[in-house]
Amino acid sequence: MSKPAATLWATDKSLAVKLGYNPYCRTIKAKQAGMVNVEGCDCIDFASNDYLGLACDKRVKQAMVEALDCYGASMCGTPVAVGGCHPLRELESRFASFIGLEETVVFPTGYQANLSIFSALADPDDLVLIDHYAHASLIQGAQCSRAVMKPFLHNNMAHLEKMLLKSSAHPRRFVVTESVFSTSGTLAPLDEIIELCRRYDAIPVIDDSHGIGVIGENGRGGLEEFEIKDFTGIYTASLGKALGGQGGAVSASHDIIDYLRYSCPGLIYSTGLTPAAAAGVLAGLEIVEREFWSLAKRLWENKALVCSALLVSGFSVADGQAPIISLPCGSAEQTIRMAKQLHLASIFTTPFIPPSVPTGKGCVRMIAGAGVDDESMARALQAFANLTEC
Ligand SMILES: Cc1ncc(COP(=O)(O)O)c(C=O)c1O
Repeated sequence: MSKPAATLWATDKSLAVKLGYNPYCRTIKAKQAGMVNVEGCDCIDFASNDYLGLACDKRVKQAMVEALDCYGASMCGTPVAVGGCHPLRELESRFASFIGLEETVVFPTGYQANLSIFSALADPDDLVLIDHYAHASLIQGAQCSRAVMKPFLHNNMAHLEKMLLKSSAHPRRFVVTESVFSTSGTLAPLDEIIELCRRYDAIPVIDDSHGIGVIGENGRGGLEEFEIKDFTGIYTASLGKALGGQGGAVSASHDIIDYLRYSCPGLIYSTGLTPAAAAGVLAGLEIVEREFWSLAKRLWENKALVCSALLVSGFSVADGQAPIISLPCGSAEQTIRMAKQLHLASIFTTPFIPPSVPTGKGCVRMIAGAGVDDESMARALQAFANLTEC
């Protein structure tokens, strides 16, 4: 007998029921710098990707209010048809100069950018080699393009080269990775990847969502961190992390970006980013340009304090090179238990369980952003001192 339709789409919540705790899809009643009210409980916000504390910065909010007054809530049309507002155009041009590439186009979200660029740029006989741990949006984007997609072992350059050696039958070859892997905080060896792409005439596609505004001497992301000049590939980044807003940037040469503006399905068939969101990210970018060093100093100090408190309490913390704190927990059950323990201590975190991570590699991710103040940090450190294994 076939299953009733409803069972086919049922979500297995047995673990949440067993543990009396569901960390996902919570309702947020209020949010201030470094703090979040989760269904009535004020928590220190170690869950969001607000690395620099810009999402609640009053200058960002003011810029959004002004854009709302000037342009209304929405452009109510696609950028190709109804045009892009001035803050969007300004954001595109400032973003491109910030990272040192020729041109940028901004999508409504980072996911949408990654999902749709491959459909526009790759043909079915092209090859997409993608890091095994790359973000779902990159994997789905490559799948949507119908190009041949093959994963290479995470950050394994020997494996990538082996695959490139056998790739000459494909007219175009793309090599896809993230600059900073968001669950562990490890960096991809961008310099080696770009060198391999140069040697085998492949096009690098770098997702810098967790790098922009975070790594590089001036916060210009992965390309600055690895001192990459004359990047000729495709660069993407979510604007909903360190830049404190919303949107997805894609940057490359003028020709590629112009082609995407007129041909990329995710742009030409979708309502553009709201003017308020564009103005907010633009304000965030201007703050990063001026204040990156002081904000980053606070971010890294917070990370160091959390890591040493966890070490003192006997926990090993994955040693990422980004300000992401990844606490390995093991099974999905142990991971959710740890997130619950932290939540009961008023610390809101992000537990990663399969399929986001391999089985047995569950972890609780924390970002102690620059917006978390001294008082909250002191409370968090006290909580870590009392933390027990799950
Ligand atoms: C590496 C990476 N790429 C893309 C995305 C998607 O970006 P957005 O949240 O702007 O849709 C995310 C965010 O979850 C991400 O971590």
